[in-house]
Amino acid sequence: MAITGVKGFNDILPGEVEKWQHIEAAARRVFELYGFAEIRIPILEKTELFCRSIGDATDIVEKEMYSFVDKGENAVTMRPEGTASVMRAFIEHKLYATDPVAKLYYMGPMFRYERPQKGRYRQFHQIGAEVTGVTDPKVDAQVLTMLCHFFAELGLTEPTLQINSLGCPECRPVYRKALKDFLRARIDRLCDDCKRRFETNPLRALDCKSTGCKEATIGAPSVLDHLCAGCDAHFAAVRGYLESVGTTYAINPRMVRGLDYYTRTTFELVTGLLGAQSAVAAGGRYDGLISDLGGPQLPGIGFAMGVERVALLLAEKEFKKRPDLFIAALGEPAQAEAFRLMTGLQRRGVSVEIDYEGKSLKSQMRRSDKFKARFTLIIGEDELAKGRGALKNMDAGTQEEVSFAVEEIGERVV
Ligand code: HAM
Repeated sequence: MAITGVKGFNDILPGEVEKWQHIEAAARRVFELYGFAEIRIPILEKTELFCRSIGDATDIVEKEMYSFVDKGENAVTMRPEGTASVMRAFIEHKLYATDPVAKLYYMGPMFRYERPQKGRYRQFHQIGAEVTGVTDPKVDAQVLTMLCHFFAELGLTEPTLQINSLGCPECRPVYRKALKDFLRARIDRLCDDCKRRFETNPLRALDCKSTGCKEATIGAPSVLDHLCAGCDAHFAAVRGYLESVGTTYAINPRMVRGLDYYTRTTFELVTGLLGAQSAVAAGGRYDGLISDLGGPQLPGIGFAMGVERVALLLAEKEFKKRPDLFIAALGEPAQAEAFRLMTGLQRRGVSVEIDYEGKSLKSQMRRSDKFKARFTLIIGEDELAKGRGALKNMDAGTQEEVSFAVEEIGERVV
């Protein structure tokens, strides 16, 4: 029996891959406009990095990590996200010594042992961006505006931006206590997961999908009513800056993130088009993470988008690349001439396809149609004898005679 791939790990095949390249190119283009530089981080990290940053009581660390002990007895994990690794690299290489303000982006596979379904996989891909060293709310507004710019660049009107503030170590405990006091009287209605994490992570009940939790949290206190003066002013300023540049948003005070490192501004780009997997991108501020990981006391903010989800939103669009030219050739000498022309044109930067198997003209033209080549050139016995043939512009429906000179054809098809 043939061996199949691992459940939740997908191949991205030609035809689909062009869409991914388009998404990646748009991200590079937009992020670089905002001054971000690429960083490439490894797939494997010490398990401790994720326990300390994402948090021991989160779903990711509790049950979703691909962790193992390697042959050298080291406890390692295939990264479930990128922020922790980027901050580990930022600290390890002392990037802050030259400039505490780093703007970094990354793209690549992440791994979480979740139940696979549409838009949720065990190996998935993120494109993320992180900024260190800035507390000013202008940077929150800039990061969010850049993310919206990216989606606009792709021509997508979905997803839409939702924002919240989760406060800081000063005001969050006060809110946690108020929420716990509220939920304690309703604890029987919470799902088993939320009951279990009532002490360690009570905020999760607010965005839990179970009906019991949804009912039990109706009328729950809002985090936004519990922000300290500093966090309240910061959130108001973020909103003001977003409005000043026309970045539209909705406030969602129930948004709690599944990672523990967040402080103050958090956000999600949500869509109604992907069923249960509504978050296409998500992120927030993490002002304590860098120092928690042993680095200097510097704030940070960033996001990551799920590339599979972005690709699903782009579903109907066609990204397959079209060759510039298809050369149909009849008979051995004409095929040899087609091969010579093809190679010469490719060396000049023109993309060319031929038929390798000496098929009939009709089947060669079918192949050209399949490729949606922009131009076709037919070389039969007569054309070969004359040294000239008809170059057909497939979009315009026009044709002109050309000699079989690489330079001449190259000039006509670009
Ligand atoms: P996250 O919310 O865990 O945040 O993931 C960000 C995005 O990755 C999600 O919104 C979703 O689009 C995608 N994603 C997550 N899990 C899966 C999965 N199993 N299958 C497909 N897509 C998935 C983070 O990872 C943070 N590091 C974001 C961040 C950066 N915060 C600050 N900086």
